[in-house]
Order: sequence, then structure tokens, then C-alpha cells
Amino acid sequence: MYSVPKLGDYSAASLDQAANELRAALEQESSLVSNDSDWKTFRDRWMARKGGITTQLSDWLKAAPGPAKREVGMRVNDLKARIEQAVESAQQRITSARAGATGGLDISLPGIRRPLGAEHPVIRTVNEIVSVFKAMGYSVAEGPEIETDYYNFESLNFPPNHPARDMQDTIFIAGQESSPQRDRLLLRTHTSPVQVRSMERLKPPVRLVIPGKVHRNDAPDASHSPMFHQVEGLAVDTNITFRDLKGTLDHAMKALFGSSVQTRFRPSFFPFTEPSAEVLVSCIICGAKGCRTCKQSGWIELLGCGMVDPNVFEGVRDNGYDPGKVSGFAFGMGADRIALMKYGIDDIQLFFQGDVRFLEQFA
Ligand code: DAH
Repeated sequence: MYSVPKLGDYSAASLDQAANELRAALEQESSLVSNDSDWKTFRDRWMARKGGITTQLSDWLKAAPGPAKREVGMRVNDLKARIEQAVESAQQRITSARAGATGGLDISLPGIRRPLGAEHPVIRTVNEIVSVFKAMGYSVAEGPEIETDYYNFESLNFPPNHPARDMQDTIFIAGQESSPQRDRLLLRTHTSPVQVRSMERLKPPVRLVIPGKVHRNDAPDASHSPMFHQVEGLAVDTNITFRDLKGTLDHAMKALFGSSVQTRFRPSFFPFTEPSAEVLVSCIICGAKGCRTCKQSGWIELLGCGMVDPNVFEGVRDNGYDPGKVSGFAFGMGADRIALMKYGIDDIQLFFQGDVRFLEQFA
């Protein structure tokens, strides 16, 4: 192993030779460093204050006679800098070799646990409803949430001053006073406009199920939310009757809630169906005995439906919907309400607050 020699004479040639020998030794020893303990030994041998090679180099300077001090000092400084650099780069070399061996990862750290997501209970319910109708041969259609007055109201036979068009219920997009009424934009209040959009696009016969978000200017409470979900249905063909409507919806309710559920149809009114009805199902919470949910009546109102009004067909007559030739039925249900019932939840707000303690129960 290299040790610092005493300098004999101070000629430039012998100073250079001594410096070259030291540099060669430094290079060789540093190349042999391959782990932390090698490195510490190397560092101490070359840099320890007591007896390290750097310290011994200072003795060259001390021993040098006056006229030689300048030449010796220059070489000593240069060698000290090289030693420091060699120690530092040997350390870098072993740390990067270690990182390379594990791909830069500390494989002893615990892993990051990513919580598993789950389908939201409302979306799960929407999908269940959709699949009940798919099994009967229905296709899925969708439409925009920002809708025109025409599709949301006019094409669905709402008269110009119908209360549903009132600002109290409908969220309109501001600043459209200069547009004609039929072009004004609003957040759709129901999925029914997609009936008309679909009939413009598809010739009869059609069997469609239409899930989507809708908006109404309602104050949030346990049973209301300004945004909620509906599933709409539309069947148009020749000779579709009210019996088809009843049979289809009775089957759908049994598929959703169980075969012992009963349905009841009660006369109602919607501008876009004639006749119109409300469908009630026997209360699935209490088994129709009477409870808080069904207000002791044994029945829960779940959806609106009816036979498509001829005035709605008039708007799409040119695409094959001559009201003298085709007939159809339509229905619309609130998916959030159905989800509340299916899961026995008493506050619709829970669906939209994003509280993980609530949502993880559906994972
Ligand atoms: N669009 C109605 C609502 O939001 C629900 C509805 C009723 C849809 C009767 C229909 C229907 O398709 O025929 O209250």
C-alpha cells in the first residue's frame, strides 16, 4: 500500500515524479472501493486528520527549504484537491450502484394502499333498471343535459304557459332574452326530450331506455335534490296498446323488486301522453302492511307513463311517425328514489355528499 515518501531533493523533476506516484496510488485505491466499509477505510487512510495522507503531505511543505516552498506548495494543494475529489466520487459511485440494483426503489418501504372504488348506488340502480329493459329487447339512448326549450317542453306538447316552464322549477341559462323561446337553453328537467331526439334519429319501430341526469330548482332536503336521475322508456310500433304498457311495467317492477310485488295504475296527466297514468308498487319496505315510507297506504308511487300523445308524433311525422299509423307508450321513473327504496336509505342527500363512510358500504 502506498505511503508518502520523504522528499530528497526539490528539483522540479523529482517533485513531479513524487506527485505522479501519489496520483497513481490514489487512482488505484479509489477504484477498489466497492461498498460502504471500503469507502470509510479509503476516506480515513487518505483524509484522516491524524496520520492521513493529506496530513503527511503537509509535512512535505514544512520540511521544504525556503526557496522550494512555492513549488512544493503548488503541488501539495493540487494533490489535496484531487484526494478530496476522489473520496467524494468513490462515494457517489457506490450509492448509485446500490440504487441501480433495486431500480432506484427502496424495496423495504411498505406499499401504498389504494382504496378500491365501487359503483355508486344510484348508478348501480340505473344500470339494473336499464338491464331489465335490455333483456326485453330495448336499446339504450342518451341526450344532452343542456337542452333547448323546444325539446324539453314544446316538442312534448307543453302549452306556452304551462307551470312546468316556470322559473320556479326550471333552471334556465341566463342572458338569452334575445333568442326565440324555442332556442333558449335550460338544464333539462326530465329525460323525456330524448324521446323526441331519438325519434328524429331513428325510424319506427323503436324500443328505447334512456338513463340520465336531470335538474330542477328544488331546495335540497331528505327527498329532494336539484340534480337527480331518471330512466325514461319509449316503445313505438304499429298496434301498441295500453295493455303492452301495463304488462311491460308490471314485469319490470317485479324484475326490480321481486316477483311478489304488485302494481297499480292510477289515472294522471302529462302533456306528452294521453291517456296518462301513475304506477304504484306495493310497498317493498313493509310488504304493503303500512309504514312511514308508504304513509300507511301500502303503496308507493314510482313512475309516470302513458300512451304517446299524437301531438308528439306530429313533430316527427316526417320520419315515419304518422300518428294514424303508429302508436306507442312512454314512461319515466326517478332512479334516486328507487335506489333509496332498494337500499333502505332515508336521505337522498347522502347520495351526493361524497362521504366515504356512506359510499364504502356499497363497495
Ligand atoms: N317526464 C316526467 C317527469 O319528469 C315523467 C314521465 C311521465 C315520463 C310520463 C314519461 C311519461 O315518459 O310517459 O315527471
